[in-house]
Amino acid sequence: LTGIQQLVASKLRDIPDFPQPGVVFRDFTPLLADGAALGALVRDTAARYAGRVDVVVGIEARGFILAAAVAYELGLGMVPVRKAGKLPGKTYRQSYALEYGTAEIEVHTDAFPPGQRVLVLDDVLATGGTAEAACSLIERAGASVVAVEVVLELAFLEGRRRLGDRTVNALLTV
Ligand code: PRP
Ligand code: HPA
Repeated sequence: LTGIQQLVASKLRDIPDFPQPGVVFRDFTPLLADGAALGALVRDTAARYAGRVDVVVGIEARGFILAAAVAYELGLGMVPVRKAGKLPGKTYRQSYALEYGTAEIEVHTDAFPPGQRVLVLDDVLATGGTAEAACSLIERAGASVVAVEVVLELAFLEGRRRLGDRTVNALLTV
C-alpha cells in the first residue's frame, strides 16, 4: 500500500451488524474527522484528475462531502446527484436495485453544459447500483463520465461489472 492508502485505511472503522445483522459497515466518519487524512485524500484525488475533468459530481450523501472538497481543490464546480424528490428544478430520474427493493436518484436536466467531462465521486462502491444510475443520469443530461472514483470498493459485490465500460478507480479494495 502507498502512504495515502495506508493513511486512509487507518481511518476507516468496521462496524459489525450495521445497518442489519451480518453486514460489516465501513464507517468513514473517522476519516472525515481527521484533517491530515482528509486533506491528503482530497489532494491526492484532485491531482489525479487535474486538467482531465470540467466538473465533479457527488452522490448523496457521503459523495457530496468528497465531491465538494475535490471540486474546490481543482477550482471546479460540483453537481449533486440526489435521492428522488430533493432537487427543485426539472430532473431526470433513474431507479436502481437495492438489496431489497428499489430506490431512485435524480439530477437536474440542465446541470451540465453539452459535452462536459465529469468526475463522479462517492465513498463506497458496493453493488454498483447507485454509481451506475448516477452515470446513466449524467449521460442522459449530455455529459460524459471520465471516471467513477471511490475511496473503497467492496470487490466481492462485483459492482464494477454493473458499470460496464466506464472507468472505475478505487483507492482501497476489500
Ligand atoms: C451508500 C454509499 C453509496 C452506495 C453504494 O449510500 O455511500 O452511495 O450506498 O451502494 P451500491 O454500490 O450497492 O449502490 P446510501 O445509499 O447508503 O446513502 P447515504 O449516503 O445517503 O446514506
Ligand atoms: N460502508 C459505507 N457505505 C456502504 C457500505 C459500507 O460498508 N456498504 C454499502 N454502502
